[in-house]
Amino acid sequence: MQHNLCRQTLRLSFSSRSSLRPCIRLAHSDAQFTSAPQQQTRTTAFGFKTVPEDAKESMVKEVFDSVASNYDLMNDATSFGVHRLWKDTFVSSLKPGRKGPLRCIDVGGGTGDIALRILDYAKDNHYDRETAVEVVDINAQMLKEGFKRFKSTMYHNTPQISFHEANAQSLPPSQFSDNSYDLYTIAFCIRNCTSIPEVLKEAHRVLKPGGTFACLEFSQVGNPFLSSLYDQYSFTMIPLLGTILAGDRDSYQYLVESIRKFPPQPEFARMIRDAGFSTGKDVDGGAWTDLWGGIASIHTGVKV
Ligand SMILES: C[S@@+](CC[C@H](N)C(=O)[O-])C[C@H]1O[C@@H](n2cnc3c(N)ncnc32)[C@H](O)[C@@H]1O
Repeated sequence: MQHNLCRQTLRLSFSSRSSLRPCIRLAHSDAQFTSAPQQQTRTTAFGFKTVPEDAKESMVKEVFDSVASNYDLMNDATSFGVHRLWKDTFVSSLKPGRKGPLRCIDVGGGTGDIALRILDYAKDNHYDRETAVEVVDINAQMLKEGFKRFKSTMYHNTPQISFHEANAQSLPPSQFSDNSYDLYTIAFCIRNCTSIPEVLKEAHRVLKPGGTFACLEFSQVGNPFLSSLYDQYSFTMIPLLGTILAGDRDSYQYLVESIRKFPPQPEFARMIRDAGFSTGKDVDGGAWTDLWGGIASIHTGVKV
């Protein structure tokens, strides 16, 4: 896997009303990190590697460029379909549409798994055909897969769904204005972002007062026996499946490593509060809800 340092990308937004324009990148030059001796390069984790902070974004982009076309298949293969149950639990716990139509933003929304569930839940449970989801992702390839998928749904070409290329850490205020969403969801994305506090700050900015932040992410397994089984499975099987099914070991190795680098539940809950959200108490069933012993967990907060 080659890591180009993409300095500039063309921001692309496309809604289901318009035809999908091709993803065009402005010409970019490979950046060189020639730090002056007295200058300190800020670093961050990219899986188990330490990389310069400003390199991570393009490295993550490259991972998802590489996995985009196989993403749904690989999700099913590596989790035996369990990710579907977790996503169902995540969305149904938020009860979209129960108190009337919502304006939602799904960040790191990729191929639209969460957006589709939100719209289906609101329709099936509350006869709500007005709730709308804006899917935001840094990666145009993932968005393209999502757009393709929505073409075969009743939401295609309606104001209920739109796709936007943007960075979770810096949502352009002209497009994503302050205090404008009722629900902000982010699933299996935030661990890939360079700065979690920056993502949370943006989530807080775009939510209306009283709006809900909800994150589904891989987390820390409490039970040592389950934790060691899970470690053995993920570090051997997932990169192997990546090699066999997608011809890409490195990307899947990164995805497993990034899970282990994500802060444990109480620490992430504290970060959510630091960004200005109120949460439940620091216990399972309070600030977060563990799924499958903490393999994944749902964190929620309300903008105060
Ligand atoms: C593991 S996928 C999850 C996709 C989808 N939410 C799901 O649950 O199936 C992570 C997504 O986050 C996106 N992503 C990573 N870093 C991002 C960032 N800084 N801003 C926006 N999206 C980002 C990736 O491009 C990818 O589509």
